Amino acid sequence: MTTGSAQTRIGVYAGSFDPVTNGHADIIRRALTVCDKLYVAVAINVNKTPLFSPEARVSQIREAIGADSRVEVCTMSGLLVDFARTIGATVNVRGLRTVTDFENEMPMALMNRQLYSGCETVFLAASTDTAHISSSLIREIARFGGDVSPFVHPSVAVALSNRFAAER
Ligand code: COA
Repeated sequence: MTTGSAQTRIGVYAGSFDPVTNGHADIIRRALTVCDKLYVAVAINVNKTPLFSPEARVSQIREAIGADSRVEVCTMSGLLVDFARTIGATVNVRGLRTVTDFENEMPMALMNRQLYSGCETVFLAASTDTAHISSSLIREIARFGGDVSPFVHPSVAVALSNRFAAER
């Protein structure tokens, strides 16, 4: 009888995480059912002007998910496939909330596979209680003093409140 391979399955979950939300945390938790080790990579997206620095986002993610030796939180620049190669990732984890996500994700998945076939994109469906959460909605609610506590870790809620306090 063939038993499972002992090889460590390394995954990458990249995104802006500006800020990390309960939706991201849900995907991270569930990604650990398909990966032995997961790199959560704060990507520098040239098309977005972030609210928080990459370093602040890394700290927020670490606090939101808590200590777990299977999870490595880091920053990433350049192509995802190059980062995947560097860390030996064979799984590219993506969360899917809506059809719009699917439409955005599909071309990236196909392009990434063409660039590097050694890393397979795996889509995880968002849980029903987080499928409506996005970082931009959270930023907007926080900017106008709304309560974001149901959607983010308490430390992120404090960071958002502090960030926008000066503007009010
Ligand atoms: N729960 C909550 N929110 C979620 C979510 C979930 N499960 N899944 C996605 N989101 C949100 C994010 O918060 C973000 O919200 P916002 O736009 O309101 O801020 C939005 O969905 C987009 O998510 P994200 O995956 O962070 O998109 P991105 O464009 O910031 O990052 C990368 C996508 C980093 C994977 C992609 O740009 C990339 O690979 N960059 C590297 C360069 C590269 O290789 N380019 C070629 C790609 S083919």
